Amino acid sequence: MWREAAAVTIGAGLLCLARSQYERGALAVETVEIVTDKVLRDRTLVFLSDLHNKEFGKGNAELLQAIDSVRPDAVLSGGDMMIAKGNADTRVPLSLFSSLSSRYPMYCGNGNHENRMTWERETYGRQYEVYKKQLTDMGVIYLEDESALLECDIRITALDLDECFYRKALLQRKEPMEQGYLEKKLGAGPSGQGPIGEPFQILLAHSPLYFKEYADWGADLTLSGHFHGGTIRLPWLGGVMTPQYQFFLPVCAGTFYIGEKAMVVSRGLGTHSINIRLNNRPQLVVLKVKRRALEKA
Ligand SMILES: [Fe+2]
Repeated sequence: MWREAAAVTIGAGLLCLARSQYERGALAVETVEIVTDKVLRDRTLVFLSDLHNKEFGKGNAELLQAIDSVRPDAVLSGGDMMIAKGNADTRVPLSLFSSLSSRYPMYCGNGNHENRMTWERETYGRQYEVYKKQLTDMGVIYLEDESALLECDIRITALDLDECFYRKALLQRKEPMEQGYLEKKLGAGPSGQGPIGEPFQILLAHSPLYFKEYADWGADLTLSGHFHGGTIRLPWLGGVMTPQYQFFLPVCAGTFYIGEKAMVVSRGLGTHSINIRLNNRPQLVVLKVKRRALEKA
């Protein structure tokens, strides 16, 4: 009897591994619509996150083709494009960003892997500065706790969270974020209404754990990733485990709202350490930011 049980278990495991191998290369292009009265016209934006050196086709041709097919007004990157673990090989993101920045305005924020290169100088030396210069030389708008406008009605800000906010934590415990932290890092958030009083505020914040704080700061749309969709996604229950070892964390993927403030959490494009994806295909997020139709009097 135990032999049959072992054979079934091994068979099921092999099937799961084969399925995971397939899913890791099966890019899903998914559209999220955000409606606001703060933009002057509709925009299409592409949001990339957690590439972790993954390549979809040679030179990421499949990913580039998927991005080209939606003809975005701009491409936004939410970080963790490489794997920084004792070394940081940046060739894959550099190649991708070189292609993208020649075609579209590109705005880049950091994840914990980019930031790690500055946290651990004895390991990475000046790799971060070299990487950043290579991107800015391409024309990428590289934002470190900074903001830039996309035309006059969209402002994009990228947050560099401190290392403590990425600590591995069991269960749902998270590092508290002190009041005023975001204002100290980013300056005052927007407070008024558009158009054209104040632009639509997008915040690239790699970890989605602080949505309330981001919304309170003034982010109309927060774009996050980091949790890779929770590795394995189960119906009703969502992501099983994040790279930070939270189990069944509700915000590890999806679209969330606090009033009119939205947060889109990408399942990411790649993996690292736990190289498994089940019911959790890599996600290219296409954002349709639409101007709310005025009601007729
Ligand atoms: Fe991350």
